[in-house]
Amino acid sequence: MTTAVQKAPRIPGDEAPQIARQLFDLKVSASPLPSERDQNFLLQTERGEQFVLKIANAEENKDFLDLQNQLIRFLSASKVNLEFPRIVSSTSGQDISTVKTDSGEHFVRLLTWLEGIPFAEVQAREWKLLSSLGTALAETDLALAGFSHPSAHRFFYWDLRRAGLARDLVGLLPPHRRALVERFFAEWEKIDWTSLRFSVIHNDANDYNVLVGGDGPRRNYVSAILDYGDVVHTATVCNLAIALAYVMLGTSNPIGAAVPVIAAYQETFPLTEAEVAALYTLAVTRLCCSVCFAAKQTRAAPDNEYLNISNAPAWSLLEQLQEIPFEQPRNLFRLVCGFPRAKNQPTRSRTSSELLAARRQNLGPSLSISYESPLHIVSGERQFLVDASGRRYLDCVNNVAHVGHSHPYVVTAATEQMRKLNTNTRYLHELLIEYSERLIATLPDELSVVHLVNSGSEANELALRMARAHSGGDNCIVVDCSYHGNTNAMIDLSPYKFEGPGGRGCPSWVQKVPMPDVYRGSHQGKDAGSQYAAYVGIAAKQTKNLAAFFCESALSCGGQIILPADYLREAYAAVRAAGGICVADEVQTGFGRAGSHFWMFETQGVVPDIVTLGKPIGNGHPLGAVITTREIAASFANGMEYFNTFGGNPVSCAVGLAVLDVIRDEELQRNALEVGAYLKEGLIRLHSSHSLIGDVRGQGLFLGLELVRDRQTLAPAAREAAWLVEEMKNRGVLLSTDGPLHNVIKIKPPIVFSRLDADVLISNLSSSLNDLAAAGN
Ligand SMILES: Cc1ncc(COP(=O)(O)O)c(C=O)c1O
Repeated sequence: MTTAVQKAPRIPGDEAPQIARQLFDLKVSASPLPSERDQNFLLQTERGEQFVLKIANAEENKDFLDLQNQLIRFLSASKVNLEFPRIVSSTSGQDISTVKTDSGEHFVRLLTWLEGIPFAEVQAREWKLLSSLGTALAETDLALAGFSHPSAHRFFYWDLRRAGLARDLVGLLPPHRRALVERFFAEWEKIDWTSLRFSVIHNDANDYNVLVGGDGPRRNYVSAILDYGDVVHTATVCNLAIALAYVMLGTSNPIGAAVPVIAAYQETFPLTEAEVAALYTLAVTRLCCSVCFAAKQTRAAPDNEYLNISNAPAWSLLEQLQEIPFEQPRNLFRLVCGFPRAKNQPTRSRTSSELLAARRQNLGPSLSISYESPLHIVSGERQFLVDASGRRYLDCVNNVAHVGHSHPYVVTAATEQMRKLNTNTRYLHELLIEYSERLIATLPDELSVVHLVNSGSEANELALRMARAHSGGDNCIVVDCSYHGNTNAMIDLSPYKFEGPGGRGCPSWVQKVPMPDVYRGSHQGKDAGSQYAAYVGIAAKQTKNLAAFFCESALSCGGQIILPADYLREAYAAVRAAGGICVADEVQTGFGRAGSHFWMFETQGVVPDIVTLGKPIGNGHPLGAVITTREIAASFANGMEYFNTFGGNPVSCAVGLAVLDVIRDEELQRNALEVGAYLKEGLIRLHSSHSLIGDVRGQGLFLGLELVRDRQTLAPAAREAAWLVEEMKNRGVLLSTDGPLHNVIKIKPPIVFSRLDADVLISNLSSSLNDLAAAGN
């Protein structure tokens, strides 16, 4: 967004007449017009004809300008009762020409000028004027419901669906105004976009783009809506909402001013109930986007006056609106549109402490809950979680919401498929096959057979059955402190559980090997990987009837430990020599989090015999997978059917595919690599200034900080780690601890995490650690 503003053309005014003469054979005088991204001139010939010369941003693509031209022609030919500019072709017959200037190569278009008074400058806004705006918008939206162009399907920051981009800038606003804007964004977050109609819309009926007739039959009626530079395919109701945002500006009764516009719109192109429900929120969201983008853009281009145009009135309107309960305009708009007053929300909206008490009453006490004062989270978007009071938290720890909380593409994939069909794998289904092929394509050739399940525990459970079937053995080797799931067999296979509170110790069929921890363990240096792998070699020799070696590709519960070089290569060789199967548990580490590779095991240069997947695979939807070789799958198919009621259902496959699409389309693996490296550098800087940090480790966006009271003795700072997690939560940043000594801060955020988020995390960690040191710890 900023770059687009920075790349606005900067053609000196005296060059505009030359361009007009050269391309259009027109002799004109020129005066500049305001624009955010482009450069526009009003041209006037000696005979008094007027034109707008539009010089596009260097970043503008020609197809998008073609969209604008086609849209103008489409609307001119439609029944919309407004004036539209005429597109003037160049002398060589082009609708879009090119000029070279110091600011780059720019596309140029010429449109006829439309007379009229900007809505912003009309003082007396009578009912009939406001109604004519509603009618104009409705006619336009109705007509455009039949218009399509591929360039309208774009990711555009002024599209209200993307208001999260503006929300990320709230930190740039004056501190006393942030809560106000945040409260409105929290409402935006609740919009159910799947319930709205979508079409191509104008998307910028602001009070300078709406023209009012000065004389003739259109006197005091809306005569034109200008500027098609913000056109986008999005929820249709956004067009009306954006216009309302500007109708409400600068009046003592903003909600009252909106009513005639909505009523007239409704007569021509009736809104649905869901659209009416979203309308007010969307209008206010537009104001919030304006103030947030202005905060960013005025930093980037302080001399661009256009950017400030609607800023001060927008603030005073937002302040005015914050006094009005949301339900008031919503109910009024419903009545205007002929819907009965909304029923009251269910009365069972409980406070956090009531919820906690009810949870204690109704749920099993073995379920734990985070933080001294538990969080009551009600929604999530991207790398943020929002609590019941509307407070937003930067989520640095939930790796399940891999591509971001409630990613709209994933949510849409799930809801659309749920609406269509959900069954089991005993029927042929395209999505099951497509998803299996897409998963296999991410893995080495040997791993070519997929079984879909519903969780990481189930995946490991199935992997154990497969390993036993193929090897003929029963016994397993696992790494100390590891966790592989919550089923009977997986608890037996998880030292983190069987040695922890309530555990019954190591079962006879399991052999434990030490964690390959080069910070605290007994081996460091370049041979550490081989030295730790030697323990696996010894265990493999000692274990009779070896079935499998289970190992995470980086150790999570163990304390965010990256395996030393050669570890898996040598360990796998020893296990295979003893007839065992090598299982890579990628439940925590897979799907691009490593940054350099899609799978963490690839960083060790090995190919496992079985890979188990979970957590990020469905971005929160219960899904897991076991992928193995053709030979192992064949041994497992011993006559007993493997049936899994939910595993591989079409909804899960649609979700899994959507997650893979988003990782690819949003280049999230590269993001994990770049932001992970940036964040790690910041953590290393913290290490040099805070002695409590003993070790910084990790790869991509799988990072950890080990806290120690003494860098020589490595005395674990568990109490300090717990304090830090609480303190960071109070500051709006979510983290948690891990490791056998509970002194490792784990960092594994959704991989949409940005550099700005990394800065927020580092600066809060730094000041919290300063506070801790000042308190004598
Ligand atoms: C490494 C590892 N494997 C398996 C599991 C079990 O996955 P789930 O909780 O989806 O059953 C977990 C869960 O935390 C895990 O961390």
